[in-house]
Amino acid sequence: MDNRIFINPSILNANFDDLEGEIDKVAKVSDQLHLDIMDNKFVPNFTFDFKRALEIIAFSKLPVDAHLMVADADVIAPKYAENGCDSVTFHFEAAINVKQTISNIKSNGSKVGLAIKPGTKFAQVEEFIDELDLLLIMTVEPGFGGQSFMTDQMEKVSQARAFINEGKAFPLLQVDGGISESTIETAASAGANCFVAGSAVYKSSDPAETIVKLRNLASNSFRG
Ligand code: DX5
Ligand code: ZN
Repeated sequence: MDNRIFINPSILNANFDDLEGEIDKVAKVSDQLHLDIMDNKFVPNFTFDFKRALEIIAFSKLPVDAHLMVADADVIAPKYAENGCDSVTFHFEAAINVKQTISNIKSNGSKVGLAIKPGTKFAQVEEFIDELDLLLIMTVEPGFGGQSFMTDQMEKVSQARAFINEGKAFPLLQVDGGISESTIETAASAGANCFVAGSAVYKSSDPAETIVKLRNLASNSFRG
């Protein structure tokens, strides 16, 4: 079972004029770069087009964990998979054929993640768990950084952890949204082992030090 703790900074709230420099600040102490792709259709916000995303993937010193908040996930996700992402996560709510898209991402050369919004139940994605490298349980409504952590999602995290531990595949259990030094222990003790942090990292005076602190807090409270 892969119970290593992952801390993945999100550049959503970093300085967009110097993303390479922003990534460099955290590269030595992070596991993956969390790249939020928003299309202003699936969510009411826009981040990067495909061309810009490819530039970021190319200059990132960290392997890229792409989080696609886009409609047409079935078509778009495989394109990210074949362009150098370490892992590609798409939303269950945005896909028409989840099984086929999982398989297309894998065959295009990247790990695969499935994300669910706060209103989606774990039971709706249970059948896919054994095929995943990562399950993302959103702890905010996707669309914006800097929102408050939704503690009510922890029941879902515990449920997913129990299910994963009984299975034959052990995807990372990722949480994304409102993760900070004051919320990460709650998520880790519910069973999450992969943490996305945006504003907590980039609004701090020392992003790298914040990541080290987050990792220590998560390691000490993780319950697998
Ligand atoms: C929200 C994004 C998150 C966001 C997290 O839709 O998916 O990755 O960047 O930012 P914070 O940590 O500020 O909630
Ligand atoms: Zn994200």
